[in-house]
Amino acid sequence: MLNIQKSNVVMKSSPSTGLSGCADIPGDKSVSHRSLIVGAMTVGETKIKGLLEGQDVLDTVGAMRQFGAKVVQHGSGEWSVFGVGVGGFAEPSQAINCGNSGTAARLIMGAMASTPITATFYGDASLNDRPMNRVTDPLILFGAHCVGRSNGHLPMTVKGAVDPIPIRYSVPVPSAQIKSAILFAGLNAPGKTIVIERKPTRDHTERMLKQFGAHIEIIETDDGCEIHLSGQPELDPQDIVIARDPSSAAFPICAALIVPNSSVFVSGVGLNPARSGLFTTLQEMGADLTIKNLREEAGEPVADLLACHSPDLRGVSVPPERAASMIDEYPVLSVVAAFAEGRTDMQGIGELRVKESDRILAMVDVLRSNAVPVEDGPDWLSVIGTGKKGVIGGTVCRSRFDHRIAMSCLILGLASQKPISVDNAGSIATSFPEFISLMNGLGADIQEVSE
Ligand code: S3P
Repeated sequence: MLNIQKSNVVMKSSPSTGLSGCADIPGDKSVSHRSLIVGAMTVGETKIKGLLEGQDVLDTVGAMRQFGAKVVQHGSGEWSVFGVGVGGFAEPSQAINCGNSGTAARLIMGAMASTPITATFYGDASLNDRPMNRVTDPLILFGAHCVGRSNGHLPMTVKGAVDPIPIRYSVPVPSAQIKSAILFAGLNAPGKTIVIERKPTRDHTERMLKQFGAHIEIIETDDGCEIHLSGQPELDPQDIVIARDPSSAAFPICAALIVPNSSVFVSGVGLNPARSGLFTTLQEMGADLTIKNLREEAGEPVADLLACHSPDLRGVSVPPERAASMIDEYPVLSVVAAFAEGRTDMQGIGELRVKESDRILAMVDVLRSNAVPVEDGPDWLSVIGTGKKGVIGGTVCRSRFDHRIAMSCLILGLASQKPISVDNAGSIATSFPEFISLMNGLGADIQEVSE
């Protein structure tokens, strides 16, 4: 497993002659964060199976402990949270380190903002550079006070509202993190908090709050939906089984499509429609990708996926309406697009510029340095596929300390003619600590390069 302390580790991925087998993907990151935070707001024990033990989620574990919840690990992926109830968060005695995780920072700021306590949040260089006004703007309307650095950057101190007021708020950018922060803050406000969402985003928070007994209603409207949450519920502890993360499954699946002689199976992958845009896009590109056994587990759609080498991929136009449902998958999609025949246009993806890195810029650099033609604009990226010619490789790419960029570069190396190395691959441990061993178990050759 990667040592995340050693973030400057360089990894090299060599051309593969075929990937095969079953990939055991870890638990969903979004659902893992939420299960800990919602569990901490119940009274009693919430048991969790399949928790992702990536650094981002471990930072949420640490934060929940600082707010007074007891969080215990029983075994791999098996955890219990003993919550303190809605409005029961204690004031942390130390600042909250959210590491690299925007989800941890934004959701937890929301969860404490309607409780009369004060907490300071900070993260690593990437997180401290990401926009937080998008979350503090609505939290201030609840009555919280938020003081951060200029441009609303972390470190940020949030003084929770003494008498929180429920709000009605139209989310200005499609973001499940903003929506979730508002819903979590709304839990401790009396009356109804209403979130207006014009473009759908992942709805794990709504599903989970419902499962824990909150009164939450989704009303479809002419221009999107309204989420109505009744405040100050008593949340009942639950047993939660977390589906495998589709955003992590994307890596071995995409690798199988572009590496000859490959066949990779992943079971129990979360297939929430607000997360499955990549799989739709890959099928439109002509991928040999089969979705089987679609079922519902613990309130979320889940399926098994089989991906096989697809020599005749073609470029497609990915519509902007699909962006939120595959927002974290564009880097690896751009790698697949590099092997397709023709042009892949990805539109409406301006949000990629404010992720763990500017992911449009990062992938433009990676692909251009490997002689794959690309074009980009403020909110779009086009990759002109190399088709049968393929990608030569033989480069060292910059991950910009971004886990999804690092993994995308390593997937590119598996299908190129010469190896590709990536710097600072330690960031992979934030979301997918098993990535290297899992890929090597399928037949890849990804190794640390000794300095
Ligand atoms: C997440 C939502 C997305 C996504 C992030 C996880 C979540 O961010 O990029 O990795 O768990 O709510 P935005 O909602 O800000 O787009």
